[in-house]
Amino acid sequence: MLDGKRILLIIGGGVAAYKSLDLARRLMERGASVRGVLTPAGQQFITPMSVASLTGDECYTELFSLKDEAEMGHIRLSREADLVVIAPATADLMAKMANGLANDLASTILLATDKQVLIAPAMNAEMWAHKATQRNIETLKRDGILMVGPGDGMLACGEVGPGRLAEVPDMVAAIEDYFSGGIRPLTGKHIVVTAGPTHEPIDPVRYIANRSSGKQGFEIAGALAELGAKVSLVAGPVSLNTPAGVSRIDVETAVEMESAVQNALPADAAICVAAVADWRMKTGSNGEKLKKSKDGIPALDLTENPDILKGLSGMKSGRPALVVGFAAETEKVIEHATAKRERKGCDMIVANDVSAATGIMGGDSNQVHIISDKGVESWPTMGKDDVAKALAKTIAAVLTD
Ligand SMILES: Cc1cc2nc3c(=O)[nH]c(=O)nc-3n(C[C@H](O)[C@H](O)[C@H](O)COP(=O)(O)O)c2cc1C
Repeated sequence: MLDGKRILLIIGGGVAAYKSLDLARRLMERGASVRGVLTPAGQQFITPMSVASLTGDECYTELFSLKDEAEMGHIRLSREADLVVIAPATADLMAKMANGLANDLASTILLATDKQVLIAPAMNAEMWAHKATQRNIETLKRDGILMVGPGDGMLACGEVGPGRLAEVPDMVAAIEDYFSGGIRPLTGKHIVVTAGPTHEPIDPVRYIANRSSGKQGFEIAGALAELGAKVSLVAGPVSLNTPAGVSRIDVETAVEMESAVQNALPADAAICVAAVADWRMKTGSNGEKLKKSKDGIPALDLTENPDILKGLSGMKSGRPALVVGFAAETEKVIEHATAKRERKGCDMIVANDVSAATGIMGGDSNQVHIISDKGVESWPTMGKDDVAKALAKTIAAVLTD
């Protein structure tokens, strides 16, 4: 959504400055280019080197720079951007902006820019509540400055209250909202996504699992959030970063996953990507590790796990309007997946061939077939991120039809 957008990121002197590095990364992941400006106070918290290394561009710090100002750097920086973001916006920077002060590079850029400015304030709760700060905010709002946050909670100074820098996904969402005019097809929709494997304990050290990496489900959750959906991602044990704008609920077993999904409802759609283990141990091992014994190999007494997809599809009331399942097959992919759609009662099945030769399980690309009441649509091999984007668009089309 941010393809080709140029963002000038001004980083003020607050403890939360380190979070601006993550913000820069997330924006770049979404196709934006980021150019950093660090105030002198900002440099007490993070270095120009870390900003420059991350953004792949120079990090600007000086107003009176012989090198940059030979070509009026502050004017150029303020114009060669599609959006100016200040994160964290200190009380000091906001005061300067509200009063038109321009006595360093950041404040001069802010006075010289003809571009929209978005601020993410962060400060101590008393500083935030101070009449001067509140007066400045009113002025900035009247001047058309956009604002995200601050949040409420534990502050770096140890106090609790308003003044916390907005979370990175919320800053990303605010920036995306600016560029899309606030209109995204899944805005207002809640979607539950399951991803990853489940682990079914045999004893305290062993478990039954499968090879799911969770990559495809995480990509789908992120792509849905990018289209504006509120996404609850119920994740089995995987080591993946939570996509921007997604609320994650970590679980281990199928029973936990089912209960987390039920707790996350109501939802407009449920996308069941997780490879849930079919069976679990009928009875636990009483917390004891199973020992090798001369009596032979222990028999694993298994019982069936809840069928989360079938349960959601068959809900008598409160059923999500769209229930999507995934079918990982190793032969007769379309035939087996079509039968699975009927058996489970879901609206759509995304089928893929996970036989070892395809490298799909754990890999970065996927080739899927979309099976619905409209028939079968086979997509070419794509990166899992592109499959996710295409699927998110398909889901948006169904939900907004
Ligand atoms: C340890 C420490 C933490 C600070 N954290 C904040 C903060 O979170 N928000 C804020 O507005 N000022 C904070 N300040 C004060 C600013 O650094 C100070 O007002 C500075 O002049 C801001 O400069 P700038 O707006 O040019 O970045 C902090 C100061 C120190 C010493």
